[in-house]
Amino acid sequence: MVFPADFVWGVATSATQIEGAAALDGRGESIWDRFCLTPGHIADGSSPRTACDHYHRLEEDLDLIASLGVNAYRFSVSWPRVRPAGDGPWNEAGIAFYRRLVEGLHARGIQAHATLNHWDLPQALQDQGGWEARETVDRFVEYALGMAQHLGDRLSSLTTHNEPWVIAMLGHDSGIFAPGIRHRATAMQVAHHLLLSHGLALRALRAQGFSKPLGIVLNLAPLMPATPSEQDIAKTRIEDGLLLRWYMDALFGRGYPTDVLQHLGEDAPRVQPGDMAVIETPIDFLGINYYSRSVVSAGEPFDVKSSEWPLTDMEWEIFPQGLTELLLRLHRDYTLPPTYITENGGAFPDRLDADGRVRDADRTEYLKQHIAALAMAMRQGVPMAGYMVWSLMDNFEWASGYAKRFGIVHVDYASQARTLKDSALWWRDMLARQSALHSQGRG
Ligand code: FCB
Repeated sequence: MVFPADFVWGVATSATQIEGAAALDGRGESIWDRFCLTPGHIADGSSPRTACDHYHRLEEDLDLIASLGVNAYRFSVSWPRVRPAGDGPWNEAGIAFYRRLVEGLHARGIQAHATLNHWDLPQALQDQGGWEARETVDRFVEYALGMAQHLGDRLSSLTTHNEPWVIAMLGHDSGIFAPGIRHRATAMQVAHHLLLSHGLALRALRAQGFSKPLGIVLNLAPLMPATPSEQDIAKTRIEDGLLLRWYMDALFGRGYPTDVLQHLGEDAPRVQPGDMAVIETPIDFLGINYYSRSVVSAGEPFDVKSSEWPLTDMEWEIFPQGLTELLLRLHRDYTLPPTYITENGGAFPDRLDADGRVRDADRTEYLKQHIAALAMAMRQGVPMAGYMVWSLMDNFEWASGYAKRFGIVHVDYASQARTLKDSALWWRDMLARQSALHSQGRG
């Protein structure tokens, strides 16, 4: 398929996962820095303290991004790097780092797509209640306004939150992610405050004259019942409500789904008058992170592994047709604004061969299949604006530590050497073919 000439092709990362320099140049502590201190939280006992040392290798990494031929880079700003305590003084050195980043992208002709909250809340705000506290919403709006002021002229888009479901549920319900809380009512209050802060930030940014596209990134997946039993179907419907309809319904002006509110009972969030109107403030674009489907059973465990499809190293099923299905459903049910796949990719057990190559044919195949699934949805009218690979390079994969490698570029953590995997070479060639097709068209 020939994609539109202005289709956005990118690679994605996030601050905590690549930057390192966790205690340098005035950066404050994030909830992930704190979470990693507790033995057992991170599979390999590691932390993001050094990660890919991107903070010190910015120019080299910008050249690496440019060498792939992408026209876009998705990254996140570390809130505690630019405002260490979440309120109070701003950190000039931190702001300067992101200024160099967006200038470096601009100089290379690469669009900058920034995310404000990719999970790394300043620990100082967590100490005051974190996302459960309504005051955090106001701190987030100040942070958004500050970043728009310092970076806005060089941004192609600004995303408020990455994957609010993950922050709410994995961070505050199952507690396997920072801040490691296990309390359903807290999780749902967090989900509400994330959405509220998103809507308030959009309004404040626009009121200040910020005119770049604004949006949010959701992790979405088709959920399927493990068996046709009534219990499994009912459970699947609730989990779909918590994962997808909770966010989509609220953002698209329908309020929270009543079946989910009923299911939550006492655990439903406190919503103040006017909140829902703020949350439905129109977005300019939607970002979707897609990795897999989930098979749901009423019994434990919730996310059953079926043996039908091959698994990645995360033990996530490779299920590309789910992407087409998901996009068609979303467009049918909500009428999508311009939509990006802001993350898609796979962890595979890569090996750096003696000849310096990483023969990750499985990852190339994964990417090919998902891009084909995306093209299929576009042919059926879904307004897709771009696709970004997760991830530019191997990095700190949260509770899995460094053991799971998602990069199309291999990172040797001892030497910090970067090596293009075969999938990166394929990606570069694919992008070159796309742009050749367009220049032929023009010529
Ligand atoms: C997503 C996260 C991203 C990365 C991928 C594998 O949930 O947004 O940071 O860890 O999963």
